[in-house]
Amino acid sequence: MDKNKEQELLNIHNHWISCFMEDTPIEQLDDLMSKNIMGFGTTTEEKVFGVDKVKELCRLGQEQKQHLKDYNYSLDIIKKQYSNNEECAVIVAEVDLSYTFNGVKTNLQLRTSTVIFNETGKWKIVHWHGSVPVETEEGDTWHANELHRENERLQQKVDEQTTELRQSLENLKATQSQLIQSEKMASLGELTAGIAHEIQNPLNFVNNFSEVSNELVDEMNEELNKGDIEEAKAISEDIKQNLEKITHHGKRADGIVKGMLQHSRTGTGEKESTNINKLTDEYFRLAYHGLRAKDKSFNATLETNFDETIGKIDVVPQDIGRVILNLFTNAFFAVDEKKSISELKDYKPTVSVSTEKSKNKVIITVRDNGNGIPKKALDKIFQPFFTTKPTGQGTGLGLSMSYDIIKAHKGELTVATEKGKFTEFKIVLPIAD
Ligand SMILES: Nc1ncnc2c1ncn2[C@@H]1O[C@H](COP(=O)(O)OP(=O)(O)OP(=O)(O)O)[C@@H](O)[C@H]1O
Ligand SMILES: [Mg+2]
Repeated sequence: MDKNKEQELLNIHNHWISCFMEDTPIEQLDDLMSKNIMGFGTTTEEKVFGVDKVKELCRLGQEQKQHLKDYNYSLDIIKKQYSNNEECAVIVAEVDLSYTFNGVKTNLQLRTSTVIFNETGKWKIVHWHGSVPVETEEGDTWHANELHRENERLQQKVDEQTTELRQSLENLKATQSQLIQSEKMASLGELTAGIAHEIQNPLNFVNNFSEVSNELVDEMNEELNKGDIEEAKAISEDIKQNLEKITHHGKRADGIVKGMLQHSRTGTGEKESTNINKLTDEYFRLAYHGLRAKDKSFNATLETNFDETIGKIDVVPQDIGRVILNLFTNAFFAVDEKKSISELKDYKPTVSVSTEKSKNKVIITVRDNGNGIPKKALDKIFQPFFTTKPTGQGTGLGLSMSYDIIKAHKGELTVATEKGKFTEFKIVLPIAD
């Protein structure tokens, strides 16, 4: 090819590259390329039709370049090929590019192929293609070997990560059961101290009254020896009263120990697929009729609202039964207490229970319209042995045991209350573990 013509061709080519790689005024592109130029980049999305789009691309490149440091490039034309009539040329060039961005030094190698036509005595670019050269081995035209190796590498990475995850899961499980164990131990310690304290009190009564009674028996014998039957009878009356007190306090201690035993049995049962509505209903009636049997005057309105969509869920039925039984007993006690001291003539003692399925949870709500729980007591109701019930009527273990059971089911037990109006306990149980 004529030297001048070829020089002109290379000038056009390099000029175009400089529009992209340097800050050459973009308007000059109008002169270099055909209006209908087509261009393709390395990715399938990078396709450009028309000179205006090329300008946009170059403007973007020039803008982004502002943020790069140590920007440098070299251009190396590696192939030139011309058509027979020398009116069409393909120029293949390699661009070595280096820059620093965000402190990271990057080297890039680009390869461009540009097709240039000589239209009416002037070279114009009609097509270009840019790509990043990929190193592949001989004979691996479609990168099959490389992809294969890449897949193997990824698979190995996945395997490694799976092993790692499995290990962390096992560690987590071990830590969790350790935590549960230590929490149990902690509450056991608390409990032991509480029990000692609680049992000490009725035991003091038992000891004192039996000592006194012992002395009274001696006195009674003396009176009998003297032949004073009347005095002996009076003393025997005192002894009888003392024995009643001993029985009363003995029963108190018994209740505490029984409650304790129940408490320690928490969480040993097996989970079973359980119909929560049925279980709740059974215990609701059990609690009510149990109280009615003890006290004929006791009366309350029972309301139930069961969500039939719940189906069966996995729980330890006797444990959950004990929780709701205690909530019902507390609720009945509260409405009964309000009724007995209430001046409100039209007070209607009401206890209601409802169940509800929400996403992956089941919620059991027990509500009463009793006097509510005073603020001062609210912080303590879940503590072992906290009770406001008269001696012998409550051990104060109900809610603390309930709390532990619900926690062992990975659920929640919460309370809402308003003085003089209501108390509402909510049990939230997860459906799937
Ligand atoms: N529905 C309620 N309304 C008002 N107070 C309540 C209600 N439920 C619980 N409480 C308060 O919380 C305290 C603790 O309740 P908890 O069930 O733990 O023990 P208890 O009922 O007193 O005794 P136990 O259940 O061991 O027989 C109760 O004594 C009472 O003061
Ligand atoms: Mg109770």
